[in-house]
Amino acid sequence: MARITAGIATSHVPAIGAAIDLGKTQDEYWKPIFDGYEFVKEWIKSNTPDVVILVYNDHASALMLDIVPTFAIGFADEFLPADEGWGRRPVPTVHNHSDLAAHVAEQLVIDEFDITIINEMDVDHGCTVPLSLVFGQPEEWPCKVIPLAVNVTQFPTPSGERCWKLGEAIRNAVKTFPEDLNVQIWGTGGMSHQLQGTRAGLINAEFDNRFLDLLAHEPEELTPMTRIEYLREAGTEGIELIMWLIMRAALGYGVEELHRFYRVPASNTAVGHVVYEARS
Ligand code: DHB
Ligand code: FE
Repeated sequence: MARITAGIATSHVPAIGAAIDLGKTQDEYWKPIFDGYEFVKEWIKSNTPDVVILVYNDHASALMLDIVPTFAIGFADEFLPADEGWGRRPVPTVHNHSDLAAHVAEQLVIDEFDITIINEMDVDHGCTVPLSLVFGQPEEWPCKVIPLAVNVTQFPTPSGERCWKLGEAIRNAVKTFPEDLNVQIWGTGGMSHQLQGTRAGLINAEFDNRFLDLLAHEPEELTPMTRIEYLREAGTEGIELIMWLIMRAALGYGVEELHRFYRVPASNTAVGHVVYEARS
């Protein structure tokens, strides 16, 4: 049977991708940030999954504002890195595990998540930056990746409660896939940041650290938090954190926090990153 063995969450700041692509990771500004990812880069070598379900958000790169699905799953065989205005990132193409994606989609619909199916899509920094942070700069990504996109860009975004339930449904779906697969679930985005308006540059380290404390061991404290609270406490783009809840719920109740990293700033955001191993 397939099983979800571990979860990773990380910010997906596009400038981090540019720093990697342009060879700037050891520059004074960037080094302390990349040092926070040394653990996962080493850990993943002996914990490479067969498949990553990568919960992220598109930033109007592929899912333009003409169609905005709340939850969507990639069905295409492969996903190219999107051109976000500076050409495609020089990173490998993402290859799907289409059978698992189809199984998860079917189980989600049975579980009353009417998820959108994406048969063609490029993946933007929300997906590719986390892959670079964890896997570095390989010729090919070392595992299959199922992109699962969440709307956090246009109101109405899903609630934290709904995201939690989606994570639980993903967990149940993976468990019933007959092939013996080691699956990881990743959540990307966050932490606190606001890119626009009079509060642009907002960072709330107290909120972020409390979120990290609760996410590991008392996640039920986080699920009732409303979208307005996310916006108020973490900024308009800080609502990306709801994708971390999906990751966390998919792991089941017990996790071991293997690694935690937090730093301000990276571009306009607080960077956060955790690695959890499933225990239950
Ligand atoms: C930045 C952060 C993001 O999460 C994003 O999607 C775009 C930009 C930033 O801090 O620059
Ligand atoms: Fe983002």
